This record gives sequence, structure tokens and C-alpha cells, in this order.
Amino acid sequence: MLSSLRTGVKGLWRASSRALQTSSTLQHDSLFVHRDTPEDNPNIPFEFTEQNQKRVDALLAIYPEGHKRAAMIPLLDLAQRQNNGWLPISAMHKVAEILNLPRMRVYEVATFYTMFIRRPIGKYHVQVCTTTPCWLRGSDAVLNAIKEATGCEVGGNSPCGKFSLSEVECLGACVNAPMLQVNDDYYEDLTVEDTKEIIEKLKKDEKPLPGPRSGRFASEPLGGLTSLTEEPTGPGFGVQDGLKA
Ligand code: FES
Repeated sequence: MLSSLRTGVKGLWRASSRALQTSSTLQHDSLFVHRDTPEDNPNIPFEFTEQNQKRVDALLAIYPEGHKRAAMIPLLDLAQRQNNGWLPISAMHKVAEILNLPRMRVYEVATFYTMFIRRPIGKYHVQVCTTTPCWLRGSDAVLNAIKEATGCEVGGNSPCGKFSLSEVECLGACVNAPMLQVNDDYYEDLTVEDTKEIIEKLKKDEKPLPGPRSGRFASEPLGGLTSLTEEPTGPGFGVQDGLKA
């Protein structure tokens, strides 16, 4: 009895220590570890342009003294936009300097959020959501269509350098699944044909119309309303007579 209990405890210990020692698997195609490269190293200077410096000042002015670090994400985003859509390490250092923070505090944020891209990318950054609702609605086919049309692999750039492809987690448009994001625009309710058309337009530097491709305006039901179909009631509806003014 005692020995079987010991074996059980040992087994549990082994199982838990094995779990603790297991290397984490790659969960995303983004780069989380910095390696100096000719195009991304701390010796390349980064300064905000004059116009962006005004934006930096405006962003900092939003936050009270002692809480300026809350401007970190907007500042990193601004730096990324200035730098053709990706964030070099010297821009991260600049943000740390502006916010008077240890560089590590900036690294922590820039490597946590997948919106920050840590490698040179193409003019069009195509992000395909493959989380469950999009996956059930055919995101694999959408992803494959993009790979085929651009020659990109996930986490890479197209041979022409114009496209970059990322596979991302839920982008918050599940009701319009499957969907993808190109730079700041969402394309939703996609079919493989829609996807190919979007890529073809981008190849010609034309801007495809963002939004749902199903004919919906947003995320309303495709077959018309099934609830909230009556005229809305006015103020005071259902209030006891005694409580009415
Ligand atoms: S699951 Fe794709 S947008 Fe939410």
C-alpha cells in the first residue's frame, strides 16, 4: 500500500518535473529574440521626424507626471509606422530614453504584442486569423490562397518583397470569419476567390475595399433581423406610475 503510494507520488513528481522542463513550443511566427543584423542593430541611429516628434509630445501630454510610461505602446506604434512598418531595436531604445525607462521594460512590451514587427517587412503585411471561428469557416484555404498568390511562407516575405505574411490569433472580427488584415484594414467574410482578388489588387497597388465581402454592412445577420424588430420603446417604458415624474 505504502509502496504503491510512493510510486504514485513519484510518478506525479516525474510528470510535473517533466512538464516544467519541457521547452516551450513556437506559438507564433514573430521574432521574440533580438539578434544583431546589418539592418537592425543598436548602432543604427533612430530619431523621430520633426512631425512625429510633435505627435510624441502630444501623446506624452495625455498622461500625468509619473505615468508617462503609459504612452509606451502609442510611441512604439509611431516608431514602427515611421520605420516602414517594423520596429528596429534602436527605435525601442529611443522610446526607453523618452520615457526614462530601462530598455528591458520596452523590450518586454515590444516582444509581447504581435502588432510590433521585429523584422523588415513588405509594403503589405497580410495577417490571417486562424483561431477557431475563422478556422472553422475556412481560414486554412484563405491562408493557402495567399501563400500561392504571393509566394510568401508564414513569417516571411514574398520574393518580390511587397508582401509579408503572418498567421495571427483572433483579431476580434469572429462574426465575420474568416477574415484577414492588411496593414490597418480588415477584410471579412472571405472566400478563396475574394482573397485572390484582394491580393491581385494589392499587387497593382490598388486598394481593395475593406470590410465584409458577403454584402453585409458590418456583422448584422445575413438573413435580416431575427430580434429587436419592433420600434424601440420610449423613455419611461415599464416604470411604475408612482415613480413617474
Ligand atoms: S477568430 Fe478570427 S477574428 Fe476572431
